[in-house]
Amino acid sequence: MDLSGKNAVVTGAGGGIGRGIALALADAGANVVAADIEETKAKATAEEVAERRVKSGFFRVDVRNSEEVGRLADYAWETLGRVDVLCNNAGVVAPGPALSVSDADFRWQLEVNVVGVFNGMREFTRRFIEQGGDAHIVNTGSHHSIGAPTAGVAPYVACKHAVLGLADAFRTEYGDKVKFSVLCPGIINTGIWDAGRNRPAEFGGAYEGDERNQKALTAFGMRPERVGRLVANGIQNEDFFIWTHPQDIELIEKRYNECRETLESQWPDGPDEEHKMTPHDVT
Ligand SMILES: NC(=O)c1ccc[n+]([C@@H]2O[C@H](COP(=O)([O-])OP(=O)(O)OC[C@H]3O[C@@H](n4cnc5c(N)ncnc54)[C@H](O)[C@@H]3O)[C@@H](O)[C@H]2O)c1
Repeated sequence: MDLSGKNAVVTGAGGGIGRGIALALADAGANVVAADIEETKAKATAEEVAERRVKSGFFRVDVRNSEEVGRLADYAWETLGRVDVLCNNAGVVAPGPALSVSDADFRWQLEVNVVGVFNGMREFTRRFIEQGGDAHIVNTGSHHSIGAPTAGVAPYVACKHAVLGLADAFRTEYGDKVKFSVLCPGIINTGIWDAGRNRPAEFGGAYEGDERNQKALTAFGMRPERVGRLVANGIQNEDFFIWTHPQDIELIEKRYNECRETLESQWPDGPDEEHKMTPHDVT
């Protein structure tokens, strides 16, 4: 899709990767609605978007809530006339050893990172199909969607596999009408380790992030503006996977090799006659 003159919505656009995506889409000529749970930050991104001489808007949304996501869509269609791109990017992480993860932190991460992404996909895919014409949804996954070996983020890893799974499932079901992508960032210099600032009261309330984790991102992380440009390219090229770190090829090969080796050792003669069925559609 050529982004010039197109209309996009980006969640988690108040900072980090979401802001980088919003600015890159605007640089490519797209009008952008910046949505975030932190309204003042969404507004600041919308102002930067407007400086690029495209239309902009901002909206306060908690992606966990499907009705709020519906209102975000209403706002975007009212503000921009039509919508062509959704970047489902809002996400949080609560680090800690797997055996110490509380029920609340597991549920908070699932709600934002998985239910939030699903809410965006369901609402916008429905509307894209009704609207007709080209449309594209990019989910922000992670190198954790494909097996990056980082200890201390078990629920987050599960969520990011789910984000890839949702993109894959929607592609299977609606890929003839809407394009889907999954962005798999490596380490990016953002405020993600301070995600606890947005933990709702029902999950224990806000807390301060660990400075050591943040320092590593600042030292080694890619600039989010660059990630934004990679996303704009990915949309233009209609790529399903969007990568930020070429070294992730090692993760892909490791997983592929492990699957292949175990499968071949367990099934040296291939499928038997009785079990030749392949995946099929269900209703
Ligand atoms: N930074 C990295 O190294 C990295 C790597 C891989 C993937 N990611 C993913 O990138 C995405 C963006 O994160 P980031 O690194 O830019 O962090 P960030 O904290 O800078 O940005 C996340 C944004 O999401 C918003 N947000 C949080 N909860 C929300 C909610 N319930 N509803 C709406 N908005 C909400 C925050 O206010 C914030 O502006 C996330 O999905 C994250 O998991 C980040």
